[in-house]
Amino acid sequence: MRDIFDKLHERMGPLGQHADDAHGYYTFPKLEGPIGPRMIFRGKERLNWSLNNYLGLANHPDVMKADTDAAAQFGMAYPMGARMMSGNSNYHEQLERDLASFVQKPDCILLNYGYQGVLSAIDALVDRHDVIVYDAESHACIIDGVRLHMGKRFVYNHNNMESLEQQLKRATKLVESTGGAILVITEGVFGMTGSQGKLKEIVAMKEKFNFRLLVDDAHGFGTMGKTGAGTCEEQDCIEGVDIYFSTFAKSMAGIGAFIASEPHVIKFLRYNMRSQIYAKALPMPLVVGSIKRLEMIRTQPELKNKLWTITNALQNGLKEAGFNIGITTTPVTPVVLNGTIPEATHLTHDLRENFNIFCSIVVYPVVPKGMIILRLIPTAVHSLDDVNETIAAFKSIKSKLDAGEYRKEKLAEFA
Ligand SMILES: Cc1ncc(COP(=O)(O)O)c(C=O)c1O
Repeated sequence: MRDIFDKLHERMGPLGQHADDAHGYYTFPKLEGPIGPRMIFRGKERLNWSLNNYLGLANHPDVMKADTDAAAQFGMAYPMGARMMSGNSNYHEQLERDLASFVQKPDCILLNYGYQGVLSAIDALVDRHDVIVYDAESHACIIDGVRLHMGKRFVYNHNNMESLEQQLKRATKLVESTGGAILVITEGVFGMTGSQGKLKEIVAMKEKFNFRLLVDDAHGFGTMGKTGAGTCEEQDCIEGVDIYFSTFAKSMAGIGAFIASEPHVIKFLRYNMRSQIYAKALPMPLVVGSIKRLEMIRTQPELKNKLWTITNALQNGLKEAGFNIGITTTPVTPVVLNGTIPEATHLTHDLRENFNIFCSIVVYPVVPKGMIILRLIPTAVHSLDDVNETIAAFKSIKSKLDAGEYRKEKLAEFA
């Protein structure tokens, strides 16, 4: 009889198969020192484009002070227990009210983590009679929420409204026989390509089909829309999005997440989301720190304006230099190159070691074979000099790539 661990050696998984060659450098790198555009990687300062610290709040002195004051006052334990049993506080409820008002929804529920929150919101909302229709390039938390669903799920081609319409027709037919209903799920901003979900067009389909819409706006909250309220504000369709989700892991530079919706939906979620009912409440420094961050996002529009100044300079500069940055309309900036996985590692090694630039690198199986994406996340704390330095470095590595200088059999080694 086989041991359950036998297969671990045979099947490390799509990412794990690179563990021995990549660990500590391409995967699980350690970025040290204060969070910001210049951080230490392997003992040397590098210009860093890999953090979702969009508004630069992670290391802002006012944020640090709010976090540390709250930790000094409450410690990390309070409140103990799940919110339903013993872990509720006035601060948790204040943050919910502040978030609801900021995203222009009547009510809100705080979540311990975004990933678990999305997963169990989906689990709570649908039963086996219902049908989920979701975008093919949805984040893993959506996919895993869909996996929990006991009824049918139909996937539509990424951002393809014809495909969505086809799946809605199928779903409508099915729920007519099961007596269930339809939940459509997509993202506000897709984190790999930087394209926006076609929220306004999806909302318009409500004229033809009966469904509710859940949007994961992890990358849009704080970065998109006139006030930073997110991609629904940007596309002027706040009302048509029935369930708005975002995490604190990006613009808010914290931990936690929330869902905003109508009061009866939030009341239902409060009493039915297993990931929240059976897990400890967010500790006070994260809650008080989030109240501070949200106040800053609300009252300091200059943070978002600076993010967009850097974003526009970076994206325009890259385009002028002949780079393909895909179809982004958000700060997420993918630089699309062609090459093998060994080429990708030699190029990244050169970029990090000789140009001191650190950014995320995405290769097969996350993107098609032969494609390399260098993913840059501009922030409000980058400078125009950082942008110019990066574009100059990218020009150099691109010409080396085109000249075949990175064409090697083996992955680049690091000491
Ligand atoms: C699109 C999207 N949804 C959900 C999450 C999960 O949020 P959290 O980190 O709060 O679990 C992330 C990553 O942070 C994300 O990028």
